[in-house]
Amino acid sequence: MKIIGFIASPRKDGNTAWTVNKILEGAKEEGADTQVWYSSELDIKPCKGCLSCKKNDKCAINDDMQMIYDALKLADALVIGSPIYMGQMSGQAKIFTDRLFAQISPKFSPKFKEENAGKKLILAFTQGNPDSGIFQTYYDYTKKMFQLLEFDVKDVVVVTGTRSESANEKKELHIVMKNIGSSLVLEQFSKL
Ligand SMILES: Cc1cc2nc3c(=O)[nH]c(=O)nc-3n(C[C@H](O)[C@H](O)[C@H](O)COP(=O)(O)O)c2cc1C
Repeated sequence: MKIIGFIASPRKDGNTAWTVNKILEGAKEEGADTQVWYSSELDIKPCKGCLSCKKNDKCAINDDMQMIYDALKLADALVIGSPIYMGQMSGQAKIFTDRLFAQISPKFSPKFKEENAGKKLILAFTQGNPDSGIFQTYYDYTKKMFQLLEFDVKDVVVVTGTRSESANEKKELHIVMKNIGSSLVLEQFSKL
């Protein structure tokens, strides 16, 4: 099983990177082949809205997103991690999400091109605010949006209160995150 992580935080050693990497670690321990991408190391430009991807079956922007499109084709699952900025995903995460438009078929039905439909997805958010319910409406909405894109959304993970204690200092999270990653792999085997 191939799993890609995309870390949409500018901080390579921050809470979001830690969370995504722990999930991937759990998956790796169950035999998954994992790969992680840091937005801070990549050149990913915003969608131009040129619709060239609907005519030519390929995004016209020649940047690092092309590597991710290629990796996505081979992946069974994707873990997108984002810090909460002003109550929403980071700009880096939004740019990445917008660029997934290129993966949607020209007729929008089925929405995702065959090679991308039905991939498992974990959304991992980290927020400074300790109140786990404060952005619930946004998390529900975002889950729905990725479901409309035909991702099989397995989990929306929210790490709260990173202002007072960083994610890696929350000892209870170490096992929780690893279990989320291992479940991704074990669920696949339970269907065989
Ligand atoms: C520009 C900016 C905006 C933020 N907005 C919020 C917010 O609206 N709500 C919140 O709970 N935390 C907010 N935070 C805190 C981050 O979500 C939190 O510290 C997160 O864990 C950072 O992730 P990182 O360590 O991966 O960078 C904000 C941080 C920044 C830098």
